[in-house]
Amino acid sequence: MTRYADLNPPARLLMGPGPINADPRVLRAMATPLIGQFDPSMTGLMNETMALYRGVFKTANKWTMLIDGTARAGIEAAMVSLIEPGDKVLIPVFGRFGHLKAEIARRCDAEVITVEREWGTVFPLDEIRDLVKKHRPRLLALCQGDTSTTMLQPLAGVGAIAHEFDALFYTDATASIGGNALETDAWDVDCVSAGLQKCLAGPSGSSPITLSARAEAAIVRRRHVEQGIATASDVPGNGARIRSNYFDLAMVMDYWGDKRLNHHTEATSMLYAARECAKILVEEGVDNAVERHRVAGGAMAEGLKAMGLKLFGDQTSRMNNVVGVYIPAEVQGDAVRKSMLDDFAIEIGTSFGPLHGKIWRIGTMGYNARKDTVLTTLVALESALAMHGAKIATGKAVPAALAAFRAAEARTAKAAE
Ligand SMILES: Cc1ncc(COP(=O)(O)O)c(C=O)c1O
Repeated sequence: MTRYADLNPPARLLMGPGPINADPRVLRAMATPLIGQFDPSMTGLMNETMALYRGVFKTANKWTMLIDGTARAGIEAAMVSLIEPGDKVLIPVFGRFGHLKAEIARRCDAEVITVEREWGTVFPLDEIRDLVKKHRPRLLALCQGDTSTTMLQPLAGVGAIAHEFDALFYTDATASIGGNALETDAWDVDCVSAGLQKCLAGPSGSSPITLSARAEAAIVRRRHVEQGIATASDVPGNGARIRSNYFDLAMVMDYWGDKRLNHHTEATSMLYAARECAKILVEEGVDNAVERHRVAGGAMAEGLKAMGLKLFGDQTSRMNNVVGVYIPAEVQGDAVRKSMLDDFAIEIGTSFGPLHGKIWRIGTMGYNARKDTVLTTLVALESALAMHGAKIATGKAVPAALAAFRAAEARTAKAAE
């Protein structure tokens, strides 16, 4: 009989574009004993999770829940539930995750219109308005932070544009939530989906989602309760049946709402994880967490520049929590990443598509958006680059990053006076 070793993955510092090291509090929460799915304690925890995520999303939306699965599950649930076959869907694409939404929308049999921009830039608001005015979509789907390019699309004002032209507005905030400002209600966003494994400091496997009253209305008219649990009072909606059972948000709402109609069996350990992630963030204060990411990401960027490295993309539009950096021409990118992993146990990210082999992506997010992790990563990268013969300035990265942290600490102290 094959004997397998006990589970013992190597210790790693995860400084890529996600996943990151989960907060130990979240790992402890996941080891909490299981209870039945309709136990009043369980439904109570589900309600608490809804309330906590209203704080995270900055919304009063009733329908603020978890989709079981990774962040992509939340995207699929949003799109398959909001799009009826034949609907026009407009997707401004500024990186890989815009293409992902287009691919999912096509599978929903939408008429998909994509407009692409050079990677490393984002869409100005007036361009979005022109596009919505021209194409008159039923749904406007836009990434907030696209980790493939490290860019953050400004969203304030986009919801108002969508509503002016009678479109719904959906955003994927998987990579940005908790580390960059997100104002679901103030920015009139109809649906936001997320993931835990970036600035929320958890593992992948649960996708928080929130729906406005407009989104709810679009979904409820397509409500069809499963045969076997439907009762005489369940009158089917007159809209087209949602083309996924698992990701049918009308059924997920019936499960999370007062009806408690059975759908899937909620992934209890992931619910514990998601609840703890939100609790940690709300306790810190969402705005404070965003500022912590801004400071740590800024310090990382300063350190990289001080080494003589060039940053990728429009730095005024960069996400707080991930920075793209050009790989020096003298080194082989994967060999340096391997040294970082083998010699320093630090993971930094490679990149996709047109950026593959050209940039690394270095994250400072969630539990890892800290001074010690930034400084350790800079020291290791400087050593690895020097070992591989890169022409960099040595001894400058850590002082530059420390100066950025010290300046932020001084600002905080002054504000507290
Ligand atoms: C913006 C964005 N959307 C979606 C995803 C997909 O998330 P998951 O791998 O959890 O399905 C990612 C993952 O990096 C992402 O950055």
